[in-house]
Amino acid sequence: MIIAIDGSAAAGKGTLAQKLIKQFGYAYLDTGALYRSVGLKLYEQKLDPTDVKAAQTAALDLKADEMLHLQMNPAIRTEEIGAYASKVSAIPEVRQALFDFQRRFAFHPVNTDGTPAPGAVLDGRDIGTVVCPEAEIKLFLKASPEVRALRRLKELQAKGICAIYDTILSDIKERDERDSKRAVAPLKPASDALVLDTSEMSPDDVFAAVIDFIKGKGLM
Ligand code: DC
Repeated sequence: MIIAIDGSAAAGKGTLAQKLIKQFGYAYLDTGALYRSVGLKLYEQKLDPTDVKAAQTAALDLKADEMLHLQMNPAIRTEEIGAYASKVSAIPEVRQALFDFQRRFAFHPVNTDGTPAPGAVLDGRDIGTVVCPEAEIKLFLKASPEVRALRRLKELQAKGICAIYDTILSDIKERDERDSKRAVAPLKPASDALVLDTSEMSPDDVFAAVIDFIKGKGLM
């Protein structure tokens, strides 16, 4: 089974993904980490994230065997690299360069130690619509920008990173705008996705709703 989780930044995709991989023993791919890693390369080389050639080269340079490990690199998790990721992800050549790896993972999921897994959980912006329209389970998470900004603030503070709520909120709004208005693979729910507004839901509430959805499809 392939589980596709799409949605906006800090809507709860990562938390839900962790609960699902624990439940099913599936392998996990955080596709945002791929775009963040491309963004980080440009940032480190002091290159413009809207430079098509440079971004395409950075994406093509990512090796298939290292892609699964990128999600563990803490350097990609800053707000600054999130903004770079959002910019490089609007470039069709970058999306194309990362497409095959994501599909291969979905259909031949492996854990980070290389062992095969019985299914895949992928999270991102276009998994249910573009990367894996065949996914049996498609989920789309959203939440108000204010709730998401507060969640991000708490996450950063827990890591000891100093952050300002208003800055996070405006970054989130800017990123939403860019991710949903771009010409290629914009952020939108698949027609058969379960759409959940997580603003007033706890992680356990979200998980319970998803399990009901999977059971309702006779897949559990
Ligand atoms: O989920 P995230 O915040 O780590 O994603 C970082 C950026 O990458 C996000 O602003 C949009 C982009 N992205 C994308 O375009 N498609 C994906 N499947 C995943 C992320």
